[in-house]
Parts: sequence; structure tokens; C-alpha cells
Amino acid sequence: MSEFDQTKKLQTEHVLLDAILPEPTTMAWAGAQIRAGNLVAFPTETVYGLGADALNESAVAKIFVAKERPASDPLIVHVAHVEQLKDLVQDVPRVAQRLIQEFWPGALTLVLPKKNIVPSNVTAGGNTVAVRMPNHAVALALIEAAGTPIAAPSANLFSRPSPTSAAAVLEDLDGRFAMLLDAGPTQIGVESTVLSLVGPAMLLRPGGVTLEEIEKIIGPVLLPQELEDDQIAPAPGMMLKHYAPSTRLEILYGPPEKVQAEIVRLVNSGQRIGVLLSESMLRQLKNKKLNADFFSLGPTDASAAAGLFKGLRVLDKLNLDLILAQGFATTGLGRALNDRLHRASQGRMREL
Ligand code: TXA
Ligand code: MG
Repeated sequence: MSEFDQTKKLQTEHVLLDAILPEPTTMAWAGAQIRAGNLVAFPTETVYGLGADALNESAVAKIFVAKERPASDPLIVHVAHVEQLKDLVQDVPRVAQRLIQEFWPGALTLVLPKKNIVPSNVTAGGNTVAVRMPNHAVALALIEAAGTPIAAPSANLFSRPSPTSAAAVLEDLDGRFAMLLDAGPTQIGVESTVLSLVGPAMLLRPGGVTLEEIEKIIGPVLLPQELEDDQIAPAPGMMLKHYAPSTRLEILYGPPEKVQAEIVRLVNSGQRIGVLLSESMLRQLKNKKLNADFFSLGPTDASAAAGLFKGLRVLDKLNLDLILAQGFATTGLGRALNDRLHRASQGRMREL
């Protein structure tokens, strides 16, 4: 993907909005921007998205240019009601209906065979489309005001951590899109779960809705790791270098005592180190008065999800030699946290 042409910079309009009752005239103007083929960044309950009219191929093309995103990475189409879904996909099978009933609006994206109306750059040339209904008043009002489904990836430069605040969007993309709808930090903090329903249900990306919650509704779901080696990867755009800070990142797995001992050893080795840990682990380490920069992921997996990308961005700006993060349990939201850490560290994970 080529670099963004700096001579094409725009004046990004930054507007503040209430996250629950967004101002109608502002939303009407934002909808008009989408209809005119321009890009609007907006909050969802997961992360901020960079939106374009999903049915306008040249508007969608602008997303790839702004993000410097490879054309091989397909986009999620956002809808405001289930009727809109029927225009985009061939058929809404029973399993999809049950999941929609349970989780929409929410952090679950469904991949289904697409209709011809969906431009091929939305789907990276493939014959399936990913669709979700976001659970955020601003996102829903934008789709309604635009009167068209909205294709939107996370509003970050390709391979950078996803933005959970308007500031993070501007850090990566200021001047590369028309309008930013700022309604404060996003609530979940990791992206939606992507589930393929093209064949048997398969988890393509763990995210805000957990595998356990999905299996409770539709029974066992396949994991891509369960495929034979010679089968091609089912999820385009799932490459390893993703969400990556430019500082080297290492993930430590193991019992808290061992993780703490390893952090103490590395800090004392003289490197400048950033540490991303749960509140309880952090409290114990801080008593040791270590010379390191700490970022707390709070007390729970949900708080860790909400803080993870911010923590990576904050520590990345400190010009450190190394960022250390703890790994999580592989259940619930921990599955999504581990997935993002795995990609952000480009696989640098150690079992202690
Ligand atoms: O929470 C979210 O999902 C956020 C907000 C903005 O909605 N969006 C988001 O989009 O994370 P993005 O582009 O960063 O990630 C979309 C991913 C792609 O990288 C790909 O892995 C998967 O969704 N995807 C999209 N279309 C697909 C398709 N047709 N088949 C398989 N995977 C697809
Ligand atoms: Mg993304």
C-alpha cells in the first residue's frame, strides 16, 4: 500500500457530541457528508470507525487511501436495522437470525454471502460480506442520517492499535477525512467478534462478544486453528503485524509471581521499560519502587479491554526500549485480549 499523498490533506472538521443524545442537525450534516462520498469517523461501542457509504465504490476507495490499508483486507458494513441487512446479503439463515436477536445491536459481526449491490472493494473481491449493527447512538444516528449502510474499518493507520478515543483517531488520520464525530472514549475497547456463517459457524476474530456467549445460543463454533494446515486461511486481513506499537512488545504468561519476577529482572537490566498490567499485579510491583513506566489495565478483563489500545499508544510515545504486558486466560474476553497482544507483539510471547 502506497503512502498517503500529503498534498491531498483536508481540514478535518472535529465536532463534540453527546454519546446518548447526539444533536440532530450535526447528525444530518454528518449524514450528508457520507452521502456526498466523504469519510466520517465515528464512535461505536467497540472502537472508532472510519466510515464511507458502503454502496459507493469510490467513497469506499478513500478509506483504503486514508488508512494506507491493503486492498486485500475487507471492511465491515454497519447497518442501523435488520431490513438493511437483507439488502446486502443473499439470505439470513436461522443461525444468523438467532444471533441477531440475541446480540444486535452489539459487538458481533456476521460474514454471509453477499448480494451484487455490495461493491467488490468492500469485500476485497470476495463473495461474502461482513455486517454488524453497532450499539452506539451516534453510529446508529449516522447510518440513519446517511440513509445508506456504512462501511467502516477501525479509524487507525493500517497495523497501528485501534483508536478508542477521538484523540487517537486524529493522531493517526488528521487531515485525511472530512469529519470526526467525537463522543468520548469507547466503552468496550476491542473490536467486534467476527463470525463466519458461510459454512458451519466459525470464529474468525475473537472480540467484544465472547465465544462462550455465542455457543450458548448456537452450539459449538469452529476455531480457525482447527483447520488442516493445507486449508487456506479463512479470514483475509488477519495478518500477524496488527495493532502494533513501534516499540518492541513482549507478552509474559505464567503465574503472577513469575511474571512479576521477570519484570523486575528486565527493569533492573538497565533497559527503559514500559509495563502494561492488571491493577492487582501492578499494585504489588509498585511497592518495589521500580524504575519503569506503568499503565494499569484495571481490575477486570473488561477494564483491560477498554484500556489495552490506549495503553499501547501511551507507552509507545515514551521512546522506551521495551514494553512488557501480561497474557490473559484464554476464556471470555481474555481470548480477544490475547489475540490482540499476540498480533501487537508479532508473536513475541513467553511462557514462564
Ligand atoms: O468493532 C469493529 O469491528 C470495528 C468497528 C469500527 O465496527 N471495525 C473493525 O474493522 O474492527 P476492521 O476493518 O479493523 O476489521 C475488520 C476485519 C477484517 O480485517 C477481516 O479480518 C474481517 O473483519 N472481515 C471483514 N470482511 C470479511 C469477510 N468478508 N470475510 C472474512 N473476514 C472479514
Ligand atoms: Mg482494524
